[in-house]
Amino acid sequence: MTRQLVTSALPYINGIKHLGNLVGSMLPADVYSRYLRLRGEEVLFICATDEHGTPAELAAQEAGLPVAEFCAQQHDAQKAIYDGFGLSFDYFGRSSSPQNIEITQAIARQLQANGFIEERSIRQVYSNADRRFLPDRYIVGTCPYCGYDKARGDQCENCTRVLDPTDLVGPRSAISGSDDLEVRETRHLFLLQSKLAGEVEAWVDEHGRDWPVLASSIARKWLAEGLHDRSITRDLEWGVPVPADVWPELAAEGKVFYVWFDAPIEYIGATKEWSDAGNGDWKSWWYQADDTVRYTQFMAKDNVPFHAVMFPATQLGTRDAWKKVDYLKSFNWLNYYGGKFSTSQKRGVFTDAALGLLPADYWRYFLMANAPESDDTNFTWELFTSSVNKDLADTLGNFVNRVLSFSRKRFGDEVPAGREPGEPEQRLGALTAELLAEYEGQLDALQFRKAAQALRALWSAGNSYLEEKAPWLEVKADPEGAALTLRTAMNLIHLYAVVSEPFIPASSAAMRSAFALESDDRSWITADEARALALVPAGTPFTVPPVLFAKITDEDLAEYRTRFGGEPADAV
Ligand code: MF3
Ligand code: ZN
Repeated sequence: MTRQLVTSALPYINGIKHLGNLVGSMLPADVYSRYLRLRGEEVLFICATDEHGTPAELAAQEAGLPVAEFCAQQHDAQKAIYDGFGLSFDYFGRSSSPQNIEITQAIARQLQANGFIEERSIRQVYSNADRRFLPDRYIVGTCPYCGYDKARGDQCENCTRVLDPTDLVGPRSAISGSDDLEVRETRHLFLLQSKLAGEVEAWVDEHGRDWPVLASSIARKWLAEGLHDRSITRDLEWGVPVPADVWPELAAEGKVFYVWFDAPIEYIGATKEWSDAGNGDWKSWWYQADDTVRYTQFMAKDNVPFHAVMFPATQLGTRDAWKKVDYLKSFNWLNYYGGKFSTSQKRGVFTDAALGLLPADYWRYFLMANAPESDDTNFTWELFTSSVNKDLADTLGNFVNRVLSFSRKRFGDEVPAGREPGEPEQRLGALTAELLAEYEGQLDALQFRKAAQALRALWSAGNSYLEEKAPWLEVKADPEGAALTLRTAMNLIHLYAVVSEPFIPASSAAMRSAFALESDDRSWITADEARALALVPAGTPFTVPPVLFAKITDEDLAEYRTRFGGEPADAV
């Protein structure tokens, strides 16, 4: 049997994430992990907060907190939100953990020993007022090409020209606004990726073949542009220290590794955190892992180069048996009314606000059914409302409540027996088995929108059957026939409960617990079981759960739009 290692890109610590961040990595990773577990596979689902780097330091400064304290708080805040969304991480770690520090340093030592790290002197901008070196994007000034006065040291947002900080006219610190800047000579470690380029390319050729086009094309584009040596250290206070045993001088100067060097290593680090907390053996997943471990990563497209090229280069350069990604699932952007979700401009819906508004399953379902897989997709309150009202409330929720309450009214608190299944039941069983196979196939292929479509089709099949049999009419002339219809429909509800779990876990649990089955430890439904629709036998006691999904009203919709600014981007 395969052991499934699943990771989702680590959310930055510097603020609460928006729905676009959620659907681009953590949520699909959760849906997939839940599905694999239901199929009986051994799954390890790992995530963590990505805590180092300048943005974290600046956010802490803005919050008036020491950075360690800020990160601890923000980690807990993010974790609580992900719990609220039902994200079933086996472990949610922190890239600032001792485990990650230890493994990052060990990997750096190996890279050094293998000749893939070199110390070089570079000239960098130092801000006397801020008493720190400024990363390129924290230097602003006037663009020499278009005259835009808020151009950043790495790029002009106005004319998109790539810049060097020294190109800027009238450069100043983006942190303090001070123009008391000087260029200083400073030494950094460089990862000699150019030496690894051929190997990385061969590795991508071999392993990237089955990745989604989005991922493999980004990887190839980067490789085609050439893998350049990259500096992997920074002059910051907060980060993984350069180990003093190998680089005593740099360590004494307080250099730390660049955040993109230690962040992917935290996938391993967090697994060790999980291990150290008394769980399984981290090494069996990551180190000399046997062929039974299949590793799937989830991320948005901007993360692909780091995962498809740079992290593999780091791993290959260790000359050690680290587990590398098998399948890289990447996502486009979720937009908000055609424009960007923006953390800095607070545009769009953030995860904390979403949970305060409506239950997690509403978001989970909408986001996955509209996941930006082959293209960017759009969040609007109108789309969200119609999807929740039509699919969840009308198609699924209404079916469940209608069937259970009608049966209780006519036949009491146990699943009625009725007569033997006839032709309509056979047709329904065949269709159910077919749609279930389609659903499984799409989930196996990590095609979430198509999987959601198949799931919706399964829910619709129940509605069509109910319309066809119309038990509320049938009951008058043919109570036995009506009882059969209701028993069959209740079996569908149970099937929905089992197979919808990856998308809507809380509602699935509510549906499932409607039936007091003698034992219900099943994890999935086979094709034969789907065809027979008889797992819930006559005589099973049941209860009618509270309404599963409340409809979003026109007034709600209007209020959400006002509150969150539901307007096209250029109108803002
Ligand atoms: N924090 C990064 C982002 O949000 C993702 C880091 S993924 C990791 O874009 F693997 F590098 F940790
Ligand atoms: Zn410009």
